[in-house]
Amino acid sequence: MKVLFAVSECVPFIKSGGLADVAGSLPKELKNLGTDVRIMMPKYGTIPDQFKKDMKKKAEFTVEVGWRNQYCGIEEYTYQNMIYYFIDNEQYFKRDRLYGYDDDGERFAYFNQAVLESLAQLSFYPDIIHCHDWHTGMIPFLLKRRYQSRDEYAQMKTIFTIHNLQFQGIMPKEALKDLFNLDDRYFHIDELEFYGNINFMKGALIAADKITTVSPTYMSEIQTDYYGEKLNGLLTARRADLIGILNGIDEEIYNPAYDANLIQPYHSSLIQDKQTNKVHIQQRFALDVKDIPLITMITRLTKQKGLELVRAVFHEIMREDIQMIVLGTGDPEFEHFFREMEYRYGNKFKAYVGFDEGLAHQLYAGADLFLMPSKFEPCGLGQLIALKYGTLPIVRETGGLNDTVQSFNEYTWDGNGFSFSNFNAHDMLYTIRRALHFYYERSVWTHLTETAMLMNYSWSQSAVKYFELYRNLVSRSEMYVL
Ligand code: GLC
Repeated sequence: MKVLFAVSECVPFIKSGGLADVAGSLPKELKNLGTDVRIMMPKYGTIPDQFKKDMKKKAEFTVEVGWRNQYCGIEEYTYQNMIYYFIDNEQYFKRDRLYGYDDDGERFAYFNQAVLESLAQLSFYPDIIHCHDWHTGMIPFLLKRRYQSRDEYAQMKTIFTIHNLQFQGIMPKEALKDLFNLDDRYFHIDELEFYGNINFMKGALIAADKITTVSPTYMSEIQTDYYGEKLNGLLTARRADLIGILNGIDEEIYNPAYDANLIQPYHSSLIQDKQTNKVHIQQRFALDVKDIPLITMITRLTKQKGLELVRAVFHEIMREDIQMIVLGTGDPEFEHFFREMEYRYGNKFKAYVGFDEGLAHQLYAGADLFLMPSKFEPCGLGQLIALKYGTLPIVRETGGLNDTVQSFNEYTWDGNGFSFSNFNAHDMLYTIRRALHFYYERSVWTHLTETAMLMNYSWSQSAVKYFELYRNLVSRSEMYVL
C-alpha cells in the first residue's frame, strides 16, 4: 500500500508546532506496519543546510496557479529510510517564516497543485494521499473535481486530518479564479463558499474520503457550536466519515531513560534521579535550590493555550510557595506579560521567551508539574511528554487533554494528573492548589509520578488505527473494480 503524506511542516526539517512532530513520527510507525509512506512538503529556505545539501533533483516542471505559470522543482531526500520530497520554489518558500504572509493563500494554492502535478512527474501514484490541516485542504478537492478524470488518479483516495480547526485558509472569492482557475459554479454552499469567501479546509471536508482528527474528544467537540469554528454543521453532516485517533509521541526523542539532553537520565523505578534534573534546572534559572513544587509551561504563547486564565490569577499563583518557569514564544501580549512578571517575581518566576529544544527536554524532566489549561486542544503533545517524564499535568478537560489525563481521585487513587472542566481561572487556581497539596503527601506523589511514567502514549496503538483506516479505504475501492 502506497501512501503520500502531504504536509506543510515536518520534524527534523522544520517545525512550528505539534503538526511537525506528528508528520515526523507517525510515518515511521506506518512504515513498520508495512506501508510505503513518503512525505511531501515545501522546501523552506530555513531548512538546515545539513539536509539541503544532499537533496537530489528528481523533476522540474511548471505549475499553473490561476493565470501564473510557476516553477516547480521536486527534490528527493532519504532520511532514516524514509523518502521525502521537497517542493522547491524560492519565490514562495525562501522566506524567514513558514506562515503569516499576505500571500499565504497563493503559496499554499501553489503547493497543493504542485503536489498533485508532481505525482505524474514522478510516476508515483499513491493509493492514498493523507493531507494535514488547511495548507493541504485543496488537494482532496482538486483531486475529485479536476484530476480524477485522468486514469492514474482515478482510484486515488484522500484522508484529511484536522490538527487545528481554527486555521482554515479563508480567502476572498476572487481566489477561486485567481489561484485555481475555478469558475463561479464552485462558489456555492455545497462547494467552497464560506460566508462570502472561500475556505481551503472546507474543500477538504467536503471532498476527502475520510476525515480524522487527533483525539476522540475533539472529534465530538468540533461538531458543536462552541468548538466548531462555523464548520460544525458540515462536520456533523460528515460524521459517518469522521474519526478521532489520538496522537502519540516519538519515544526515540522523548524518553527520560535515554534522553541525551538530560544531565541525569532516569527511569520510573529510579524516580529519585529526576531530582538531579530539578536541581540542575533551578541552578540554570538562578532559582533557589530547594524542595518546593516547580511548575512549568512549555507552549506556544497563544490564547488557545489558556494563557488568559494564567494571567487572570497570576498574582494569586505567585502567593503560593512554588517556583514557576514558562518557555515559549508567540503573541507579543503574552511575551510582554511574562517578561514583566519575571521582573516582578524574579526570585520565583522565570520566563524564557524563545524556543530551545534541549532546554525544553530539561524542563520536562526537572519540573514537578506541567500546566496546560487550554481553551481547546485537538490533542496536545506537551501533556504526553510531561507524563512520560513523570511531571504531572494540570489540564483543562478538553480535546486530547480530556482523553489522556485523568484527574487524581484521592479515594480510589486513580488518575495520572489533575484537571478541571470549566474555562475559569479560579477553577484552575483551585486545581493548582490541590496539586500542590498532594506534592507534600509523598506516597501519593510517588504513586502518581510512577503511574504517569508507565502510561503508554507511544504511536504503537494509534498507528494501527490509521493503518486499518488505509486498508479499509483501499480494499473498498478494489471491491468496486472487481
Ligand atoms: C496542533 C494542535 C495540537 C495537536 C497538534 C498535532 O498543534 O493544536 O493540539 O497536538 O496539532 O496534532
